[in-house]
Amino acid sequence: MEGNEQKKVVIELQNVKRNFIVGDEVVHALRGVSFKIQEGEFVTIMGTSGSGKSTLLNQLGCLDTPTSGEYILDGVHVRTMKRRERAVLRNRKIGFVFQNYNLLPKTTAVENVELPLMYNSSVSAKERKERAVKALEMVGLGNRLYHKSNQMSGGQMQRVAIARALVNDPAVLLADEATGNLDTRTSFEILVLFQKLHAMGRTIIFVTHNPEIAQYSSRNITLRDGLIREDTLNSNILSAAEALAQLPLPQDD
Ligand SMILES: Nc1ncnc2c1ncn2[C@@H]1O[C@H](COP(=O)(O)OP(=O)(O)OP(=O)(O)O)[C@@H](O)[C@H]1O
Ligand SMILES: [Mg+2]
Repeated sequence: MEGNEQKKVVIELQNVKRNFIVGDEVVHALRGVSFKIQEGEFVTIMGTSGSGKSTLLNQLGCLDTPTSGEYILDGVHVRTMKRRERAVLRNRKIGFVFQNYNLLPKTTAVENVELPLMYNSSVSAKERKERAVKALEMVGLGNRLYHKSNQMSGGQMQRVAIARALVNDPAVLLADEATGNLDTRTSFEILVLFQKLHAMGRTIIFVTHNPEIAQYSSRNITLRDGLIREDTLNSNILSAAEALAQLPLPQDD
């Protein structure tokens, strides 16, 4: 961050805890997590399996509510909102990229990306389509607009999922293991895309169990047993595009 310039805080967690009751046992998935994330940060969240990463991301994405603690999203206390208001807030402020893409089967890329705009009555059908096409072009899928989900590769489906997350122009982009199912080359292509979005000023929170990926983000938070174990800024962000260029070309090229 340059000088003392104060950036806007988009996400603030204050002592967030999340317990799950299973039988007569209590699982403490989050034991008191606090942090602030400023506009334009690219944060990776790491930690071993079961450390609480997805639980944390579900809080940030308003898909789940904490047992205690406060979540302030873009200045709004999420806890005080009604269910419906929260759904609207989630739709407008957050883009979610799931590990398994969550695309509608047998549905074209354009239709999948248009989906989040369906809930917004102020967007006409024409504008919806234009925005979907623009988002797909931005992720490099301008030539696959009318391919159906089952006619695309894993990396292409992941790009559709990213375009869908971006189409609403959300304040924050959340990704859970967005490269988890992909081969090395495709993973780097997706990372190049996230770095491009970061350079454009997007706020990104990227959950991964792969420590290598933290070298490409601006900040890394490591969880252990539902607590923050480490929270560090990266002063030497590596270029995913350069790493990609170093990789051997695929066989059939
Ligand atoms: N709905 C639930 N009910 C009960 N326990 C849960 C639930 N969701 C998560 N947990 C428990 O909370 C802990 C944290 O789970 P979480 O899914 O957040 O881990 P994670 O860091 O995302 O792991 P992974 O890398 O395997 O995806 C785990 O011990 C898990 O068993
Ligand atoms: Mg998980």
